[in-house]
Amino acid sequence: PLSPQETAKKHAAEAAIPFIEKGSIVGVGTGSTVNYFIDALAAIKFDLEGAVSSSDESTRRLKALGIPVYDLNGVPEISVYVDGADEINRHLQMIKGGGGALTREKIVAAVAKRFICIADKSKFTKQLGDFPLPIEVIPMARSYVARELVKLGGDPVYREGFVTDNGNIILDVHHLDILKPIAFEEILNNITGVVTNGLFAARPADIALLSDGSSIETLKR
Ligand code: A5P
Repeated sequence: PLSPQETAKKHAAEAAIPFIEKGSIVGVGTGSTVNYFIDALAAIKFDLEGAVSSSDESTRRLKALGIPVYDLNGVPEISVYVDGADEINRHLQMIKGGGGALTREKIVAAVAKRFICIADKSKFTKQLGDFPLPIEVIPMARSYVARELVKLGGDPVYREGFVTDNGNIILDVHHLDILKPIAFEEILNNITGVVTNGLFAARPADIALLSDGSSIETLKR
């Protein structure tokens, strides 16, 4: 049997299915919550045209279930993108990237008309930043970017032995006081060598489906 947290992830994931439009191409995120969503998609796959995926791992799982995966460049629009989060606040701003897929996640989210965040309730927070903020960095800029992050008050930790799907490295930044997420996302983006940061504030989720294992709380912007 599933643990209470896994049950909550599965419920949140299944609650996203009614938002998928018939015949559409759905944007698919990455992570353990999304894996439940991919399993649930299999049941409606004949009503779907297919998926655009945010990671090699999700692509592999989608294909294994017989769901066609399209290159984003050939897809003119995505009506719905479904993804998890490491933290989410009441403005539906998030920290993402615990699984290291943040860059492709941000790209698919940027294209999608609606972003639906699926999560167990433990991900909900008053203020973002207890979860170390993942930042994808071009490998040769690692030390420079780390020094710049220290100047911003953070405590960057190199994710040893991890390479992103794009061939880059991740710095997980601890102890950040993220009071203004939109402004801070932009400041981080301006550091040369940063590919993407895990703050999803300028483009937050539109709907959050949060589960405690028995009921779903729906938050909207
Ligand atoms: C992947 O890079 C992340 O953005 C995930 O969305 C996040 O880590 C949530 O993962 P879980 O669903 O496994 O908690």
